[in-house]
Amino acid sequence: MDAKDMGDKLEHILVTEEQIDAKLDEMAAAIDRDYDGDLLLVGVLKGAAMVMSDLARKIHSPLQMDWMAVSSYGLGTKSSGVVKILKDLDADVTGRHVLIVEDVIDSGLTLDWLRRNLMARGAGSVRIAAILRKPDAAKIEVPVDYLGFDIPNEFVVGYGLDWAEQFRHLPFVGTLAPHVYGG
Ligand code: IMP
Ligand code: MG
Repeated sequence: MDAKDMGDKLEHILVTEEQIDAKLDEMAAAIDRDYDGDLLLVGVLKGAAMVMSDLARKIHSPLQMDWMAVSSYGLGTKSSGVVKILKDLDADVTGRHVLIVEDVIDSGLTLDWLRRNLMARGAGSVRIAAILRKPDAAKIEVPVDYLGFDIPNEFVVGYGLDWAEQFRHLPFVGTLAPHVYGG
């Protein structure tokens, strides 16, 4: 899918495919400097599917990949910070060096919960990689070890991120025209 397929649904592109690719090179190089084996990547479904697969392919160190699906309890679309595990890891993280891979840090509540949850299971270390962060939306400071881009506090789609389960397969990150939300 590309911008042409979006027709008038796309408002503007915030981060291009080329920018994402170059940034992932930098993030993977930093990860390779920091780890020497026993790296467990934990992708957070579904949004992190793209960044997980692209980032993993740029890392040279040995690694394993696992996935979790979580949802935030509570009403409405805002994260509540109370998290329900929909799909747990297959791997035992005891003593493992875990790198959580996320699409976007919005309020930070989900990731803060996840980080503490994995630490409580006895992981040797837990670090975070996120391709996007919205600094102005932060409700809690989450330490991000490998960051792609800081973006404005706007709703974005593409590169794994959806609106109503659509637009995840856009290769770039962009905003939607207001009429899409309207109906
Ligand atoms: P939070 O950091 O706990 O508020 O929640 C972050 C999660 O909400 C992300 O992993 C996304 O799945 C979702 N999310 C946050 N902002 C956006 C957005 O702009 N577009 C699509 N999904 C988003
Ligand atoms: Mg997510």
